[in-house]
Amino acid sequence: MSMLSGPYHSKLPNIKTTIFTTVGNLARKHKAIDLSQGFPNFEADPNLLNLVTEAMQSGHNQYAAMPGYYGLREIIAQKIEKLHSRAYDPSTEITVTVGATQAIYTAITAFVHPDDEVIVIKPAYDCYEPAIELNGGIPIYYQLNSQDYKVDWKEFKTRITPKTRMVIINTPHNPSGRIFSKEDMLQLQEILRPTNIILISDEVYEHIIFDGAEHESASRFDDLASRSFICASFGKTFHVTGWKMGYCAGPEALMHEFRKVHQFAVFCVDHPVQRALARYLQNERHYLELNDFYQEKRDFFLGRLKESRFKFTPSEGTYFQLVDYTNITQEGDEDLSKRLIIDKKLASIAISSFNVDYRDDKMLRFCFAKKKETLEKATEILCSL
Ligand SMILES: Cc1ncc(COP(=O)(O)O)c(C=O)c1O
Repeated sequence: MSMLSGPYHSKLPNIKTTIFTTVGNLARKHKAIDLSQGFPNFEADPNLLNLVTEAMQSGHNQYAAMPGYYGLREIIAQKIEKLHSRAYDPSTEITVTVGATQAIYTAITAFVHPDDEVIVIKPAYDCYEPAIELNGGIPIYYQLNSQDYKVDWKEFKTRITPKTRMVIINTPHNPSGRIFSKEDMLQLQEILRPTNIILISDEVYEHIIFDGAEHESASRFDDLASRSFICASFGKTFHVTGWKMGYCAGPEALMHEFRKVHQFAVFCVDHPVQRALARYLQNERHYLELNDFYQEKRDFFLGRLKESRFKFTPSEGTYFQLVDYTNITQEGDEDLSKRLIIDKKLASIAISSFNVDYRDDKMLRFCFAKKKETLEKATEILCSL
């Protein structure tokens, strides 16, 4: 193929292939058990799959409404109101998106101007910063420490300047597995109250919370809700990450701007899947039972990991568990992650790639959204180290 002859000016000169792709490829090459990327290795509910087939066979195969099929937006609004006592108008305040990733990208694109600052709490999921940079914004970091991954809100506040346009939070948090308490959310609310800062609240793991804790959605807090885009993912909740289905909820004035971008980036998302989700969401057990489903997996994984030399604090939410390996080796996390794939046939994610300046706290992340036999084999390897 003939190549465009350079020089061309990359808009993201520092972006490499994501760690998930690199590690996933290495895992496949070495036939390793893959606990790296965040997706289940079991099937979704066959009833949900049938609903999609039915929707296709019933002729829902043309464009949906630009903000999403109304029936789906309606049931999303009912769900949020029931769980968090906040009423969003499905006509104007909810938009169905191509996963949470597009919701986040669209919210950033709609509001971040060149030289605006956006505060990102690190370690962070990797889609935030490229979206900020593509829009000319400047990511400003708040790095959590690996002892407890808790935010010191006084310290956090020092990152705010007159140029701060946006703050991005993520609870339950990938990769740490920590959740924000009500107190955390109240402190954030007080910090943002006197400002015009917009909040993106990445809540894709809202239904994966353990030990009876509650998900403190930004939508629960009056002042936060008035400035927030709540971003959610059906992929995470219904074991269908490959469908790339999510949504965004936010107050009308913000959503109005969001939709201006959405309608030209994607216009609308997969119609039959939206029809199916609208019907599937009628039964609240389909999402309320997810906490218990994943708690069983977390407890099984950690019960066996207790026999190993890894140190860990049990994950409070998400389907990820961080482990500190310093009792076993002092090598760098990327080196260890590679060595485990090649020598032990087990894939994980090195946390340094999520930290500011690739800080290496000697932590690995394992995804426990896997079949029991996969977790059994993985923990056998971990206990042998
Ligand atoms: C914290 C976080 N936000 C967003 C996403 C992306 O969600 P989706 O697949 O719905 O785009 C992920 C996926 O791993 C995630 O972990």
